[in-house]
Amino acid sequence: MNTLEVPQGKFTLNRYPARNDDPLRAWDAADEYILLHLQEQKILNKTSKILILNDAFGALSIALEKYQPCTVSDSFISHQAIIENSNINKIAHQKITLQTPFQPLSGTYDLVIIKIPKNLAMLEDELYKIRDYCNDNTIIIAAAMSKYIHTSSVKLFERILGTTTTSLARKKARLVFSKIDANLKPGTSPYPTQYTLDINNEAYSNHANLFSREKLDLGSRFMLKHIPQLANHGHILDLACGNGILGIVAAQLNPLADISFVDESYMAVESARMNAKKLLKDSSRCSFKVTDCLQGIENESIDLIINNPPFHQNHVVGDFIAWQMFKDARKKLKKGGKLIIVGNRHLGYHIKLKKIFGNCEMIANNKKFVILKSVN
Ligand SMILES: C[S@@+](CC[C@H](N)C(=O)[O-])C[C@H]1O[C@@H](n2cnc3c(N)ncnc32)[C@H](O)[C@@H]1O
Repeated sequence: MNTLEVPQGKFTLNRYPARNDDPLRAWDAADEYILLHLQEQKILNKTSKILILNDAFGALSIALEKYQPCTVSDSFISHQAIIENSNINKIAHQKITLQTPFQPLSGTYDLVIIKIPKNLAMLEDELYKIRDYCNDNTIIIAAAMSKYIHTSSVKLFERILGTTTTSLARKKARLVFSKIDANLKPGTSPYPTQYTLDINNEAYSNHANLFSREKLDLGSRFMLKHIPQLANHGHILDLACGNGILGIVAAQLNPLADISFVDESYMAVESARMNAKKLLKDSSRCSFKVTDCLQGIENESIDLIINNPPFHQNHVVGDFIAWQMFKDARKKLKKGGKLIIVGNRHLGYHIKLKKIFGNCEMIANNKKFVILKSVN
């Protein structure tokens, strides 16, 4: 179940975080297709310089480890997965240069491999960023399951890089081939972009991979009305902060509180940092952390956690991340500390919260969302 067999070898790969009896694999047919294509077309030689984008759990980076690739991902979880899977396969993970989207690339790549992300804005931003590190000889191969490759994605490749073609489907996956056209002048990435909040006219900046990048999410909008004021100064944490909107409003309502912003996306945390600096008079009371749920946060240190939890990991829908977030929240809250969450009514988060905290109160609800509170 967790053995990837490709021309480059056999590798044991787990998803991250590991779950008991996980029915899902840590790679897909698009990863297999790329690796097969590289071998069949004899694309690589000993000195090939490789850039890999959006490798979810390390299938590509680990199979191509002997070329010492540079792997860029916006996801802390992907970075952790690649490190753990390297260890399992007895590969020194330092051979793979792991980078966030904010670390600079260098030189010219012979091969660029792109796992096409779910978010088209993210793809657009990435294509602009890689263009300067490719030349006429660079082989650019993107891949995804066919159902995730839209005409609009192919058009982005043509507009930003140059001539683009697609392969036949294999096991429902498809490859996209692009060639740099030196005569194209596509300009620069439009990201980060901004939206203005109609409630107070504040402008929020959002990097390309942000949840609800173009406008405030309806669940978060509902939550804004229910962020409490603490009786004393204290420590508030915006868990899964996205662009930081919930934490920033909490900071405005609680001018003496310390505020922490946490997310697993580097782009989310950078957006929250940018917005807190711009919108808060005193942003020195804010701290920012990229991590998985609340890993690395001190136990019993927080008075209030506010959270609009995710209900998917890439294309996989589920409540397993929310579950982990609630369990972590229980550990990180002080005695008497509160977790306040917003969620779609049908997700049944109250059952989980009751199980974990032994209590759960509905603070508010509308047709679509509920706001729930549990006390530690
Ligand atoms: C529904 S959005 C909420 C964003 C923001 N708080 C808002 O209300 O607009 C969920 C956020 O969870 C983050 N996320 C997903 N998995 C995570 C994990 N394991 N640990 C921390 N954050 C995670 C996503 O990057 C995303 O920013």
